[in-house]
Amino acid sequence: MNLSTALFIVATAITASGVSVRARTSQVSFTPKVKPISYPTAAEGVFSGIGTFAHFPYVDCFRNESINYDTAILAPFDTATIYRPGTCFNPSGICEGSRRTILAGGYNVPQKVNPFTSLAVVLDTGDIAMTPYDNEVAIRQLQLGHQDLLHRTPADISRSSFPRVITLGGDHTITLPILRALNSAYGPASVIHFDSHSDTWYDTTSVGGASREIAGINHGTYFYGASKEGLIKKGNSFHAGIRTTLNGPEDYEVDEEIGFEIVEAREIDGIGTKGVIEHIRNCVGDNLVYLSIDIDTLDPSFAPTTGTPESDGWSTRELRRGVSGLAGLNLIGADIVEVSPPFDDNGQITAIAAADLVYEVLSLMVRFPVLLEEVE
Ligand SMILES: *[C@@H]1O[C@H](CO)[C@@H](O)[C@H](O)[C@H]1NC(C)=O
Repeated sequence: MNLSTALFIVATAITASGVSVRARTSQVSFTPKVKPISYPTAAEGVFSGIGTFAHFPYVDCFRNESINYDTAILAPFDTATIYRPGTCFNPSGICEGSRRTILAGGYNVPQKVNPFTSLAVVLDTGDIAMTPYDNEVAIRQLQLGHQDLLHRTPADISRSSFPRVITLGGDHTITLPILRALNSAYGPASVIHFDSHSDTWYDTTSVGGASREIAGINHGTYFYGASKEGLIKKGNSFHAGIRTTLNGPEDYEVDEEIGFEIVEAREIDGIGTKGVIEHIRNCVGDNLVYLSIDIDTLDPSFAPTTGTPESDGWSTRELRRGVSGLAGLNLIGADIVEVSPPFDDNGQITAIAAADLVYEVLSLMVRFPVLLEEVE
């Protein structure tokens, strides 16, 4: 790969400079032992290399249809945001937050797997190119980009029927075109949705206004649209972490009609993460599952930099437990959205939390194959 070629060139240059030092000072003979570096090293795991997710190889799959992979990581889009913008910078923000992920080796202790040394082919495919001027076109571009990635033969056909994509949003609207693309491969899926908001608002005048139909599709309404289009398994989909204010109790009634069960954020005080996980697993069962994680599930003290922050949320530890508790479910794809790097603090607190959540999701995908003939 380009990356290892670049490192080899750097190593050679250092050796050459060592030789020239020796030539000038005839009494001191010191040639540093520099070998071509093998992946990963501490330095490569942190500072050097282009900023892909956790230093996975960057391969632009959109420009070459013959590239095969098991998991691809991508997507930027923030033009349907109601409050803070900036999530279009999120893919690179999370990648920056993931620089340290492999430093100590990458082995996931509670999940007992190392997604970096497994045989799965994991690539960072960069962003889907899309217009920032026209949401109708951008949403279509996102759908087609995901369809392109999904409908290829996986590198290892014994592990999944289609490649699995982890999308780094973007505002939450991106989940709609992703579900459309997934539907073209798998049909309707159960959704597990971690968020402080249900995103099933239907009266679009209260969530962003709707001067035109396309304006009604935004990061607070896309699940309503997805359900109407038949992209979601009704009655087997789940929101966890909900705690926003509502127009009134009727919002929950519509939500149930659309197909979701809910565990509110505050319920964790009584039932713990174990109870939350149990509710989710009972709801989705053996169905194919799409996982959508809004970073605002976390309390703003753990993730301050998001489109619509809500206090009274979960800790990073609780959410990581919740995600790794989905072990063994038939996970066909995932997104992590609403991280807005321009608002993050100097310590990249939100980006690091998001990167670690992606790491948990990736560990799940590497551990558990999803073959359609075994599911249906
Ligand atoms: C596309 O990818 C394949 C498989 O990795 C490779 O053999 C081929 O050279 C690539 N084509 C181009 C134009 O880069």
